Amino acid sequence: MSTSSAIISGTGMSVPDRVVTNKDLEKIVDTSDEWITTRTGIRERRIAGEGEKVSTFCIKAARDAMDAAGVTPLEIQMIIVATVTPDQPIPATACIIQKALGCTNAAAFDMQAGCSGFIYAQSVAKQFVVSGRCKHVLVIGAELLSKFLNWEDRATCVIFADGAGAVVMSEGELPRGVLSSAMYTDGGMADFITLPAGGSAMPPSAETVEKGLHFIQMKGNETFKMAVRSIAGVCLEVLENAGLTPDDVTWFIPHQANQRIIGAVGNRLGITDERCYVNIDRFGNTSAASIPIALDEIVRAGKVKEGDILLMAAFGAGLTWAGSVVRW
Ligand code: UT7
Repeated sequence: MSTSSAIISGTGMSVPDRVVTNKDLEKIVDTSDEWITTRTGIRERRIAGEGEKVSTFCIKAARDAMDAAGVTPLEIQMIIVATVTPDQPIPATACIIQKALGCTNAAAFDMQAGCSGFIYAQSVAKQFVVSGRCKHVLVIGAELLSKFLNWEDRATCVIFADGAGAVVMSEGELPRGVLSSAMYTDGGMADFITLPAGGSAMPPSAETVEKGLHFIQMKGNETFKMAVRSIAGVCLEVLENAGLTPDDVTWFIPHQANQRIIGAVGNRLGITDERCYVNIDRFGNTSAASIPIALDEIVRAGKVKEGDILLMAAFGAGLTWAGSVVRW
């Protein structure tokens, strides 16, 4: 049996400098620090400034991940950017950053799987690494959701935020690496989180702009109900496939969507708060970027040791959900 595996050899992250607190939002929409904190766990978030693009943050996060991995740009053979907020519809953001990073040997493309995008991209990268097709793949989860928010819609503008996280996935040997992963979709709930205009179904026009159809719209409560069940289920599945149980998990690194969702999933799995990494209070919901940002923080804080078991799981627009287990 093959012992080749895909290990995470380096991590990086980058967020905008500008901090927007709940108090700042109280001045823009009818909300309160108390509502946002108790309903979501968010206290502040990073919001990009004028002229900043999602690629700005991808590039910084990717450089740090490559440095940490000890990999040169020319050794990267594939770049996957998971995002719903690319620099522009064409070309893929991955192509823009391939040039900026000098990764001229890399095939580069974007993936869209909502907030589950990073786990989806990690799963795809794993296949290319384990099959021997690529020695090193750069996987980035990045969003500039602030550019697609209606700052008069309190149901979304208090939740979503900006940032990027990156990992290099490299050839390795079991027992280290991605032990198992799973991806799911239920397009029957595609209307829960949408950005209706700007595509072929509704090309941009003065009317779509006037109606605010270029902004993210979310059925928050319906999404919430689906989230807990789907995340807990996929976590148990990927653990079982790896021959592990929740007790074996050193760190649970969930998508940072809502503190209450994270708590409820932790309860279902029997993973106590001390083993559950949470940074939503500082960064809000950065969609596909939230897991790689959390992973970089935890790794750079020296909290992950060789052999540790990391459980990651996310859900989001689609609806999509996904999970993976990594032995560090
Ligand atoms: O990243 C993956 C995708 N998305 C998610 O994970 C989101 C999942 N959903 C959630 O996190 C929660 O549903 C929210 C935080 C978005 C909302 O919390 P909720 O407990 O589900 O609230 P709700 O939507 O049921 O609204 C409750 C009340 C409503 O008022 P009424 O109708 O009860 O009078 C809302 O109008 O809260 C109101 N409300 C607000 N009040 C103050 C909604 N947003 C706000 C706000 N400030 N920002």
